[in-house]
Amino acid sequence: MADQDNDRLLDHTYDGIQEYDNPMPRWWVITFWATIIFSILYVLDVPGIGIGPGRVAEYEADMEKARAARLALEPAGAPDPEALAALAADPARIAEGQQVFTMYCAACHRADGGGQIGPNLTDDSWIHGGTLAEIRATIHDGVLAKGMPEWGKVLKPDQVNAVTAYVHSLLGTNPPNPKPPEGTKGTQGTP
Ligand code: HEC
Repeated sequence: MADQDNDRLLDHTYDGIQEYDNPMPRWWVITFWATIIFSILYVLDVPGIGIGPGRVAEYEADMEKARAARLALEPAGAPDPEALAALAADPARIAEGQQVFTMYCAACHRADGGGQIGPNLTDDSWIHGGTLAEIRATIHDGVLAKGMPEWGKVLKPDQVNAVTAYVHSLLGTNPPNPKPPEGTKGTQGTP
């Protein structure tokens, strides 16, 4: 019976060409409707309508897990010299530190670290020592008597570490009109 239908010749003629009224094959029609149904379920799954928590929630749960794993690697206390050296060599952490610096430190040390109220952070002279551990300690504990805030109370430990890496990366950047060197020259070093 279906064959009869397949062979039904349509009445009209275009330039002498006639056509059969053939329906699409069943497998094609099923695939067509299946893709439409799939797309609807897929879209509903993004905010989590239907089964499961949804893609947005899954993404956020994964990010939260990754963040917790990173914080577990970075303890609240001062990291050991090797960990500090590793993060000072990590461009991603330096970039993170730059954001912290722009937000919290640029007001006193200038956006380029050239110094204003606070000393120049780009030269190799340091009042409180220029090793990574010393820079971190100055940032963390501050120098309250001289007007350098105690950042360990404001920033998270990983922000203190990142901004330490950034300050360390400023050495020798020679910004214009720097504040003259203060402290002892040549005290920078890696760990
Ligand atoms: C309110 C102004 C102010 C802000 C904001 C500030 N500092 Fe300071 N900073 C100072 C002053 C003043 C000193 C000098 C302390 C001294 O003379 O002992 C200093 C010193 C330092 C030193 C030691 C420099 C040396 O020669 O040993 C470092 C490192 C430093 N600051 C980093 C930072 C970082 C990083 C931030 C942001 C998280 C920051 N500072 C924000 C005022 C500031």
